[in-house]
Amino acid sequence: MIEKAIVHSRITGLGSAVPEQKLTNADLEQIVDTSDEWITARTGIKERRIARFDDSLTDYCTKAAQRAMEDAHVEPSEIDAILVGTISGDYRFPSTAIFIQSKLRAMNAFALDISATCSGWLYALFHADAMITAGKIRKALVLGAENLTRITDWEDRNTCVLFGDAAGAAVLEASNGEQGILSVDIGSNGDLAHLLYGRSENAGSPLIEESFHSRGNFLRMSGNEVFKHAVRTMLRASLKALKLADMKIDDIDWLFPHQANIRIVEAVAKRLRIPREQVFMNIHKYGNTSAASIPLALDDARREGKLKSGQTVLAVAFGGGFTWGSAVIRF
Ligand code: COA
Repeated sequence: MIEKAIVHSRITGLGSAVPEQKLTNADLEQIVDTSDEWITARTGIKERRIARFDDSLTDYCTKAAQRAMEDAHVEPSEIDAILVGTISGDYRFPSTAIFIQSKLRAMNAFALDISATCSGWLYALFHADAMITAGKIRKALVLGAENLTRITDWEDRNTCVLFGDAAGAAVLEASNGEQGILSVDIGSNGDLAHLLYGRSENAGSPLIEESFHSRGNFLRMSGNEVFKHAVRTMLRASLKALKLADMKIDDIDWLFPHQANIRIVEAVAKRLRIPREQVFMNIHKYGNTSAASIPLALDDARREGKLKSGQTVLAVAFGGGFTWGSAVIRF
């Protein structure tokens, strides 16, 4: 029975998991014509984690979810919904969330994936928050996870230096206290899909000979164009979340931007007028982990003792589609 008068949803637990294998900039110098100096200066990335061929996204999602549930002191049977922001699950179907449900034995939950590229976790948060505040569910697992290196073109130096694999998870619960999701907003613009996409190739058809040899399902990106849109959109989305929460940037303790590129983040932070020391970055360790980026950063910041109870966070993401999302969260 779900009580009335729920004011917000609240993050009560965080967890993350990454593959063991590291790929450093020096390793990449052996794969494509690039250098540590170029990658560091243009992106801020020093190394990233890469799934091995037989690593499964489900496995590190499950580990991240278990850590979040332990942190929240919640049992699998209490979970009503599992939402996973991802575009790179182990299977075309069923969803990644379905496999996580089975591994966790969270058999009272419904489970679904949300395809919103790098904004995936904030999209999942938006929907879980809406269901909780509407009284439809009480506890949700909200994940963002990617194995983007599976669809990376390792001959394209413009993109292969950017991405890494990871999973991040949060437990979201009904709450009527001070802490919680104070605002969450999402948006999209399908007119700009051609700037960042990965095709779904019919690679298995015996009738389409070229599909056997093409690399057409790899991620493709117009980096410069994406960069400009990312700065403008993340700024606009940040201001929207602040407005919805009736807050100003001075009320925010931490900015948690999607870890796409240090230069995008610095441009957004400068326009928002938030000091650099209040911007959490871990891109040097993980690269751009797409939908996993924000929950991984939140979990990292908490474990480093930087993100503390009572602090207010502005999270903002942007990704292919284009999609975007933003939230003000009090921990
Ligand atoms: N190593 C060395 N040189 C590289 C390189 C690499 N890995 N990748 C590209 N270059 C070269 C280009 O070929 C180009 O050379 P040229 O001048 O001889 O043609 C030069 O570097 C500059 O390329 P450009 O694309 O203008 O660089 P940039 O400053 O825009 O940086 C990105 C490229 C990809 C880092 C940048 O555009 C970016 O971060 N875009 C947004 C990406 C993103 O975040 N996507 C996900 C959104 S969620």
